[in-house]
Order: sequence, then structure tokens, then C-alpha cells
Amino acid sequence: MSFFKTVEKRRSIRSFSSKKVEKSKTKKILKASWMSPSAMGMQNFKIFVVEDLKKKEKLVKATHDQEYVNSSLVLVFCSDPNRIKFTGSRGKNLFSVQDATIAASYAQLAATALGLSSIWIGHFKEKTVGKIIKTKLKPIAIISIGYANEKPGKKESQKIKNLVKHV
Ligand SMILES: Cc1cc2nc3c(=O)[nH]c(=O)nc-3n(C[C@H](O)[C@H](O)[C@H](O)COP(=O)(O)O)c2cc1C
Repeated sequence: MSFFKTVEKRRSIRSFSSKKVEKSKTKKILKASWMSPSAMGMQNFKIFVVEDLKKKEKLVKATHDQEYVNSSLVLVFCSDPNRIKFTGSRGKNLFSVQDATIAASYAQLAATALGLSSIWIGHFKEKTVGKIIKTKLKPIAIISIGYANEKPGKKESQKIKNLVKHV
């Protein structure tokens, strides 16, 4: 699939079939995140792969009952500021969050290119998610991945001219 086709095809899906995501595809998705750009090349993020059913059920609760967090493959992207040597608040507070965000975005695109669908979950109880995956790192995004059981709805977007300014 071409890059632009992948970008166009990636849409939020909130209903997944019971078909499991193949290990080989999981590996490719994780590799795409691993290859994403990061501040000083330090890869200031950590990906928690959740496959355990009980943990997924807990994540559904921690995401205010978003049932689709129970998909075949659930990835929790956390920022990890511990490797950043750069002092100052931009380095510590922003870069690792950006790194985790970019890595999550690459995962969504990789999943799409592999014929899978996904949903980005940002609405969750941060501390509870941290406890479920047993980390003190800050969870930034949960990406639920699987085979779609629905077609995406009509996309509502701003006009490009409202989002872009030539200066
Ligand atoms: C930072 C962020 C947080 C989001 N949080 C949620 C969420 O908690 N639950 C949900 O169903 N969708 C969530 N979404 C998905 C958006 O609703 C979706 O991307 C948007 O409506 C555009 O639709 P599209 O992904 O099909 O292009 C989130 C997306 C982003 C980027």
C-alpha cells in the first residue's frame, strides 16, 4: 500500500472481530514504532504489549468503559524521560511525550498498512492504567488494534485552509 493510501485508509474503528492479530504483524507494528524519530535519537518511550484478557478487561474499566480496548492487540505507549540528559522543562516534560506520541502514530499507520484497524484511546485514568501495566511511567496513548468489524463513519474534518497558515 502506498504511503498516501495508508494515511487515507487509517480511520478509527471501534468494533473488532475475534480474529487474532498474527505475531508477525505485531512484530512489524512494533518495529515501525521503534523506527520512529525521537528526541536525540534516545527513543524516550516504552511500549507495553497487553495480550492478557484480564488486564484488557481492567483497561476497559480504566478507559471509562470503552469496550473496544478489548481488541486482539492492545499497546500502551508511555513516555520515558529517564534517558533524556538534556535539562530544562522542554526536554524533560515535552520530548518524551512527543516521542511516545509519534511512536503510537507510527503503530497506527503500520497496522493500517498490514490490513488491520485501530483506535487511539486518550481518555483514561492515567494512574489506574499505570497500575495495570505495572509501571511508574506516564501512559500517553492506548492503541487498540485488530480486524475491523465495522466500516468507518463519514470523516468530519476542518477545512485545510483553517489549519494551515502561510507566513
Ligand atoms: C489524542 C487522541 C485521543 C483520542 N481519544 C479517544 C478516546 O478516548 N476514545 C475514542 O473512541 N477515540 C479517541 N480518539 C480517536 C478520535 O476520536 C479520532 O481519531 C477522530 O475522531 C478522527 O477520526 P479518524 O481517526 O477516523 O480519522 C482519540 C484520538 C486522539 C488523536
